[in-house]
Amino acid sequence: MNAHQKIEIAFSRSPASNPLAADARAALLNDPGFGRVFTDHMVTIRWTKDRGWHDAQVRAREPISLDPAAAVLHYGQEIFEGLKAYTRRDGSIALFRPEQNARRFRASAVRMAMPELPEALFLQAIEELVTIDAAWIPDGEGSSLYLRPFMVATEAFLGVRPSHECLFVLIASSVGSYFKGGAKAVTVWLSDRYTRAAEGGTGAAKCGGNYAASLLAQAEAIEQGCDQVVFLDAAEHRWVEELGGMNIFFVFDDGSMTTPPLSGTILPGITRDSVITLAQREGRTVREERYSIEQWRADAASGKLREVFACGTAAVVSAIGKIKSANGDIVIGDGTGGPITAALKATLVGIQRGDLADSEGWVRKVR
Ligand code: PLP
Ligand code: COI
Repeated sequence: MNAHQKIEIAFSRSPASNPLAADARAALLNDPGFGRVFTDHMVTIRWTKDRGWHDAQVRAREPISLDPAAAVLHYGQEIFEGLKAYTRRDGSIALFRPEQNARRFRASAVRMAMPELPEALFLQAIEELVTIDAAWIPDGEGSSLYLRPFMVATEAFLGVRPSHECLFVLIASSVGSYFKGGAKAVTVWLSDRYTRAAEGGTGAAKCGGNYAASLLAQAEAIEQGCDQVVFLDAAEHRWVEELGGMNIFFVFDDGSMTTPPLSGTILPGITRDSVITLAQREGRTVREERYSIEQWRADAASGKLREVFACGTAAVVSAIGKIKSANGDIVIGDGTGGPITAALKATLVGIQRGDLADSEGWVRKVR
C-alpha cells in the first residue's frame, strides 16, 4: 500500500466505561516518573495482507490478546515510536514534529518487512488519543504525555517470513523527566564488549530487537553506577555511535559541535535533527562526522572538548558529565554540564512549550 495514498478509515470511539477518578489521576500525575503511569485509552488499527488497514478503534486501555504462535513472540517483528504531547502556557496542547515520527515509523516498517502505516492515519491516531486522554497530560516543568505507537506481527504461523497480519497500537504515559534528579549531568558507561548494531543491520530502525540487544550492556552500565551505555561501532570498536536510547553531541572550545553521522547503524533522532538546526541557526558549525573514543580521551585531556550531551525525545537534552570505562574515566569540564548544552535545551523546550517562536514550523497544535 502506498503510504501517501488517501485512506479513509473511520475511527470507532468507545470511551472507557470506568476511567480513573479525577483525584486518583491527580495523585498519579503529581510525580509520575517515566513510563509507569498509563492513561485510560488506547488506539488500535488492524492490518491484514488481504484487507490492508482497517478496524481503527479508540477504546479503553486493556491487555491485548495474541495467539501463542503470533510472529512477534517468536521472531521479534516489532517496531515503535516515541513522541510527546505538551500543555502549553496558553492552555493549548501541542505535538513536536509528529510527522517526523510518522515518517520514521514507515521507514522502520520497511526495514522490518512490515506494512507502512499511512502518515495521515498515524497522525490521526495520535490526535484521537491525545484528545480523549487530554486530562492525563501533566503540566509540571519537564512533564508531558509520552506517546508510544507500536506495531506487532500477529499472524499465527511458525514459518519464518513476514507476517500477513499486524496490529498497530497507540498507548500514552504521563511522564516527568527521564533521568532521576532531572537536570544534573549524567554518567555514561562505555561498552567495550557489546555493540548495538552493525552495517546492514537494523540500527537505523526503531525496532524492539535493537533495545533487547542493548539491555545487557545497559545493565552493566547500571552496575557500574552509570545512567546509560555508550556504544561503539561494531567493526572497529572505536567510533562513538550513540547511547542505548539517545543520540550524542560533542561541543568544542571554538563553539563548534560534532555528532556521529547517520550511516545506517544509529537511530536518526528527531531531537538530533532539531539540535543541529538550532545550533546552525545560531551560527555554529555542526559536523556530522565520526568521532573516536581515542579522540574523545585526547580532547577531554587537552581541554578542547568542553561539553558532551545526549538527546532524545524521552531525555530531551541531557548533559553528560563523565564517561566510565574499563580503561579509566573521562570527566568533561567540571563534570556538571556546560552553557551551550543548557542553552540548546532551553531553546528546544521553549519552542515545545510555546515560550519561544516556532520559526521552523515544528509545533503541531492538537486543540
Ligand atoms: N537513539 C536511540 C537508540 C533512541 O532510542 C532514541 C529515542 O527515540 C534516540 C536516539 C533519539 O531519537 P528521537 O530524538 O527521535 O527521540
Ligand atoms: C525515546 O526517547 O522516545 C525512546 O524511545 C528512548 C527510550 C529511552 C525511552
